[in-house]
Amino acid sequence: MLHETQNNPMISPAPSEENSPYRQLRVAEVIEETADARSIVLDQPGIGSEFAYKPGQFLTLRIPSPDGAIARCYSLASAPGVDGKMKITVKRVQGGVVSNWLCDAVQPGDLLYAMPPAGLFTPTRLDSGLLLLAGGSGITPMMSIIKAALREGSQRIVLVYANRNEQSVIFRGELDRLARAHPGRLIVYHWLESVQGLPGREQLAGIVEPYTDYEALLCGPDAFMNCGVEALAGLGVDRHRIKVEKFVSLTGDPGRHHVPEPDTALGPASDLAVELDGETHAMTWPSNQFLLDVLLGQGLAAPFSCREGKCGACACKVVEGEVAMDEDAVLGAEEIAEGWILSCQARPASAKVRITFDQP
Ligand code: FES
Repeated sequence: MLHETQNNPMISPAPSEENSPYRQLRVAEVIEETADARSIVLDQPGIGSEFAYKPGQFLTLRIPSPDGAIARCYSLASAPGVDGKMKITVKRVQGGVVSNWLCDAVQPGDLLYAMPPAGLFTPTRLDSGLLLLAGGSGITPMMSIIKAALREGSQRIVLVYANRNEQSVIFRGELDRLARAHPGRLIVYHWLESVQGLPGREQLAGIVEPYTDYEALLCGPDAFMNCGVEALAGLGVDRHRIKVEKFVSLTGDPGRHHVPEPDTALGPASDLAVELDGETHAMTWPSNQFLLDVLLGQGLAAPFSCREGKCGACACKVVEGEVAMDEDAVLGAEEIAEGWILSCQARPASAKVRITFDQP
């Protein structure tokens, strides 16, 4: 990330690595949403389709820090086909270097570096009933989903939105306007901890019970999401119809990544076939390299973001053969059983492996 103001001690150079996944975006506008949250509207001149996105996806930003550049993921609050420019919303975290830098230092005209949008937190269909449970800044991807579904779909969208108090409600005015403009299609239940206390499983179940045949998406603090998932499970909602967005801090910069030389110490290389964007590519897969590194090394545009097994952006499916993963916590047991893997964490475990990224 590069701040254009001179003498800013937080200035970080543009990524200089060859084949850097980061692209330059210009800050078009900064919007103060609440006392501790602001939106940053981004222009993407000349980048075009590389930054096409689905509602609910996120950007990975390269952020300066006293210890060098670090990366953080921020959900897009804008919606494709609705908003002309991308917008992220950042809530200040007490003591958080990154969120405070974004909230204090970034100004219109600054240049930020971001990787193309990624993430699996997007509705299976926009034209179906959607039940959205958001806590605090977990509203950000929900705004993107709501705007896209109101435009593309015709079914009802129900938002349950929990906040500490009235002052901490991000997008209150925008939600009110959307609900008024789409009566009967967008229903918003506000939950204020200052008035009603922390939402419990029984209370959430009472609100969502009429909507258990909707696709459910949850984003917010862990305790809130756990409570929401338990409420839905208690009402008999199939776990496959519940999507949860988990954000975790990354320990490194995914744009700076060391790939080991091929080595047969772990076993011979495997034959690999990969379906990506409607084409099948054949190559060898060294036993000591991660699938994502092999694909990027071949010049393929495989999706990724964190490279740490924490975001799910690189998820793909094993069609044939076996792989072993170092880290898989972001995947649910059902997804693993269905053959989903994380390409940034997967090494080959059979002589032949066939992978597809082209799942619906
Ligand atoms: Fe984030 Fe693989 S790139 S899990």
